[in-house]
Amino acid sequence: RREQDLLGKRILVTAGPTHEDLDPVRYLGNRSTGRMGIAIAEAAAARGARVDLILGPTNLSTTAEGVQVLAVRTAREMHAASVALWPKANAAILAAAVADYRPKNVAKQKIKKKEGALSVELVRNPDIAAELGQDKKSHQRLVGFALETNDELVNARRKLVSKNLDFIVLNSPSDEGTGFGHTTNRVQFVDATSVKPFDLKEKTAVADDILNELVTRF
Ligand code: C5P
Repeated sequence: RREQDLLGKRILVTAGPTHEDLDPVRYLGNRSTGRMGIAIAEAAAARGARVDLILGPTNLSTTAEGVQVLAVRTAREMHAASVALWPKANAAILAAAVADYRPKNVAKQKIKKKEGALSVELVRNPDIAAELGQDKKSHQRLVGFALETNDELVNARRKLVSKNLDFIVLNSPSDEGTGFGHTTNRVQFVDATSVKPFDLKEKTAVADDILNELVTRF
């Protein structure tokens, strides 16, 4: 039995991709599997937390005791569920790969092909992290992820401030064995004044590193 260092805490976790509909059969999506967020949810529950896992469309899920799974499809559904649960949470860990944009119009019927190019207008989705950060109370902690291809530290710190996060889990997509589709990840924890690098390890172990950091910040 694990140390119950999250006993009495309620933790919100977002995970997986979102699907943004184009028409009744097509969507824009991304390659997130949800594996990192599911690992965090399971580890937090094993350490005594009550976990709400808001999970985008993916093949992976969890039946772990202490994890309540809420399946959503779109960024707007994930946003609505997150905003509703945030006031009850002691912390949120936002591991989802939320689509920044969605098609402005969802065609009621399947879009037919025709000659020439097709343009789709996209509009911005709500930024869940930023909104939770805006409403964050002094007893709440907020953890975000960042995947940057360039100027990673500068960009991560910018996000830390703009979304009012307590720390960011930074991973680089160029690293061998990290990110989408892998069972391993190499991360750095970034806050305003420090950077903590970690070795490449299983996402289940990364999950515990993240929760260790969170526990020190309560
Ligand atoms: O701005 P960027 O997408 O790089 O920020 C990544 C962090 O913000 C992740 O923690 C992600 O889950 C969260 N996010 C969000 N809602 C969005 C976009 C990102 O919660 N619409």
